[in-house]
Amino acid sequence: MYYKGKPKYQLTPKTSDWMHEIFEDNGLINGLIERYGSPINIHHLPSFNQNCEIYKQVFNSYGLKYRVFYARKANKSKGLVKQAFASGIGVDTASFKELEQSLVLGGNSENLVLTAAIKTEAQIKLAIEHGVPIILDNEDECRLTQTVATKLNKKAKVGFRISGFEVDGEKLYSRFGFDVEDVEDFIGSYVGEGKTFDLLEVTGLHFHLDSYSTHQRSVSLIASIKIVSTLKEKGYPISFIDIGGGILMNYLEEEKEWTNFNEKLKDAVLNQNNDITFNDNGLGFRLEDGKLNGKLNTYPYFNKINKGSFIKEVLDFMDEASGLSVASLLLKNNIEIRIEPGRSLLDQVGITVAKVIHRKKDAKGQWLVGLEMNMSQMMSSSADFLLDPYMLYNSEVENDKDVDVFFTGAYCLERDVLLKRKITLPKLPEIGDYVAFVNTAGYMMHFFETEAHLFELSTNLIFTGSNEKLSFFQFIDDNKIVLEKHNEMH
Ligand SMILES: Cc1ncc(COP(=O)(O)O)c(C=O)c1O
Repeated sequence: MYYKGKPKYQLTPKTSDWMHEIFEDNGLINGLIERYGSPINIHHLPSFNQNCEIYKQVFNSYGLKYRVFYARKANKSKGLVKQAFASGIGVDTASFKELEQSLVLGGNSENLVLTAAIKTEAQIKLAIEHGVPIILDNEDECRLTQTVATKLNKKAKVGFRISGFEVDGEKLYSRFGFDVEDVEDFIGSYVGEGKTFDLLEVTGLHFHLDSYSTHQRSVSLIASIKIVSTLKEKGYPISFIDIGGGILMNYLEEEKEWTNFNEKLKDAVLNQNNDITFNDNGLGFRLEDGKLNGKLNTYPYFNKINKGSFIKEVLDFMDEASGLSVASLLLKNNIEIRIEPGRSLLDQVGITVAKVIHRKKDAKGQWLVGLEMNMSQMMSSSADFLLDPYMLYNSEVENDKDVDVFFTGAYCLERDVLLKRKITLPKLPEIGDYVAFVNTAGYMMHFFETEAHLFELSTNLIFTGSNEKLSFFQFIDDNKIVLEKHNEMH
């Protein structure tokens, strides 16, 4: 029997049929955790493929040239990289290993890009050898790429990352990239035949905005299109603009739950009667001199505009100067648009399931439910992961024994509390029951995972999905994937 946790102010996650099928099958979960340990991360490939289709359909509907690159930094599983290629999209790589593995898994010069924030000589060498475009961030990277290209006697395909776009009179700061004011001059002065960087072949421009604004993306795209036309006139063979990731996804069923939660948390912090979170955590809100300061420091979990409609909003924006939409400007200038979604391609793709190890009451009389899991195995880069979890009971539940709990983890830190919110359950979990956290594939399940205490890293299982009855054999250990490939090769 399984139940969604019902905190006082619910945040009901969007879920998929495949998740519920798994929740219903206690025997399967027992078997998987016995075999692979706790927690396990399960990844559903058909959901990933469906997200790829959404992006393809949007671009096709405009008749645009496009490429989609899955930003694999959001999830390290190799199975998803293989699925990206099988689904006809590419992969954005951000380290030597990400690039090396992606090449082994079927990547090539057409379906890979290297966007690492720090680029070592080894990374650049590997990219040039395989003709993979390198997105350059600064002059030192140009110099290193030129040096490596000289050694290899091979041109490097590069894109220039730009930032500092002016939107509504304000310059958008980023620590990444060349300033938008300087990039045209820089390329014109130093890049190309007879110039300092004669082995850099500029094929595109790139930006990635830190915000989730479609407006900022549209304005930045228009500015980039202008730069591309000028550079094309100067003879540079520029064919694409890559607008990076940050495409919103929607985690929640209902907007009103989201607004209500925000309001109630603010009230709780302001009135100092916080019974929503562990140890009065304001999740970004603070009470200072009797006033409420700060803001909710989490991902914006509810988004009406997300994935395909987000891209549509970027493309439909009208450029006042030309009277054309962004999409029309791209078509008119024969520019290919590229995106690098990480999180949003992983929407509905993953769940994390952990085993209950103990229950205890703390000195405040609160129930703490200890899980075989730690805070690094489901960690948000912000204040909390705000989705209601599912409780998978091994035994019957009578519905009149509601209990409030916090889920606690295995690190020696006081703050290893897996969700900051107090969760109401229909029954106190028993040892050996399971808790499932849904939609964790994008950044949540193992982006920050460590081996502190010498804990084993969690196992990532790739679930092929099928119409047949669920069986153990539909779940593949991701660690085995590259090894199989190596075995085939040797
Ligand atoms: C250059 C670049 N591309 C793509 C992404 C993926 O972004 P998201 O997962 O928000 O779609 C990131 C995220 O940091 C990035 O820095």
